[in-house]
Parts: sequence; structure tokens; C-alpha cells
Amino acid sequence: MKVLKISPSLMCADLLDLKTCLDIFTEEGIDYLHIDVMDGHYVPNIGLSADLCRTITSYTDIPLDVHLMVENVDQLIPQFAGFADATVSFHPEVSRHPLRSIQLIHSFGARAGIALDPSLSIEGIRYLLQEADTVCVMTVNPGYSGQELIPGMIEKIEEVSSCCEKMGYTVEVEVDGNVSWKNLPKMLKAGANVFVAGTSSIFMRGTNIRENIRRFKSLLYGNNVKGV
Ligand code: DX5
Ligand code: ZN
Repeated sequence: MKVLKISPSLMCADLLDLKTCLDIFTEEGIDYLHIDVMDGHYVPNIGLSADLCRTITSYTDIPLDVHLMVENVDQLIPQFAGFADATVSFHPEVSRHPLRSIQLIHSFGARAGIALDPSLSIEGIRYLLQEADTVCVMTVNPGYSGQELIPGMIEKIEEVSSCCEKMGYTVEVEVDGNVSWKNLPKMLKAGANVFVAGTSSIFMRGTNIRENIRRFKSLLYGNNVKGV
């Protein structure tokens, strides 16, 4: 049975109140911190930086789950793969040699992830799965929070999860994009085990983050969760 994990997306957080947010995450036993890095080229948006990651890791030990939405993948990997217990995921279609990029991430001691754009099938990454530690199934177009789930992505999670199982790969299956209260149970049933939580759950505007984390956990584990 794969361990279920929550990775709140910090680009959705109130950056003016990040310390409070990180304290709550530590108290509630959050697994990862999702860090969206964007270069304005691979996606038409600018994201979070390595400097912010340095500030965050000087305050908390929660491992970083870095999502590189950039074109110069190998150039940026060294800036993020050195953080303790970090996971660094990239989009293989923009890496000249994706297997070499995975090896570069591993050479810094980090876990390596493949982020799969909604338009791309699992066929293109089949031979990367034996080296990767995680596959991030994008369920929205990369680049912005607050988007709606793209139809067909639940089936894609199933395909990725069953392919990994069939091949005997212990790869984590992450979902990123519109992981809402409604979509979460379907994504869980489809075989995902790492959930990027953004504006449609933990960071839903005008709601309480701690209550949302407990609601998220109860949807993942049912009600036999500490503190629910
Ligand atoms: C989008 C990012 C996501 C985003 C999720 O490109 O990769 O991590 O922050 O936000 P929601 O949950 O609002 O879709
Ligand atoms: Zn992301």
C-alpha cells in the first residue's frame, strides 16, 4: 500500500503570512512543500525562486517538492537539487536528454520526478520510469493556479498508476492541478498517492488552513486520522 502524501502548493499561499502557514504545516504533519518554478518561457508566468527556498528551508525541515516549469532544465537543477530530502521534477519534453537530467538530479542526492503535461501520453516516458522516483500527472495546463481539471485526466492517472504497478516500479504518482474536494476522491481511487493542494482545497480563499488540512486528511484516510 503506497503512503498517501499532501504537498501544499506555496504559490497559492499568502506569502505575507508564510511563517504562520509553515508552523501549521509542521504541527499538522504535512509531507512536502510544492514549489512551482516558472521561467516565463516554458510557461507564460514567473514562479518561485531558489532564494525563497533557502529562506523556507532555514525555517522548516519539511522536504521541498520542486516543480520545474522551465526550458533550461539542466541549468536550473543545481539550484534546487541540493536542498535536504528534496524532490525535483521537470518536464521531459524540454530536456535534451531526460535520463541525463534525472541522473543530474540524483547526483545532488535529490529524488527525481517527471512532470507530464496534460497533452503528453505515458508512452513517451515509459523508459524513464525505471529511474524516476515520482511522476507528476499535470491535471491542468501548467503555469497557473485556479484552473479547472482537464477532462480525461482521471483516466490518465489510472493509466500511469497501473503501468507503474505492472512494470513493478515503486514510483510515486503525484497529481497537480485542481485537486479539489470533489476531484480528490476520484484521483485517490485512480491510483494517485501524492496530492498537490492549492486554491481548490487547502488554500481556498476565506477558509481556515488547519481545518482544510484535516478535511483533506479525512478524505484521504477516512476519519481514523489523529485530530479529525
Ligand atoms: C500549476 C502549478 C500548480 C498550481 C496548483 O501550473 O503546477 O502547482 O499551483 O494550483 P490549483 O490547485 O489551484 O490548481
Ligand atoms: Zn506544480
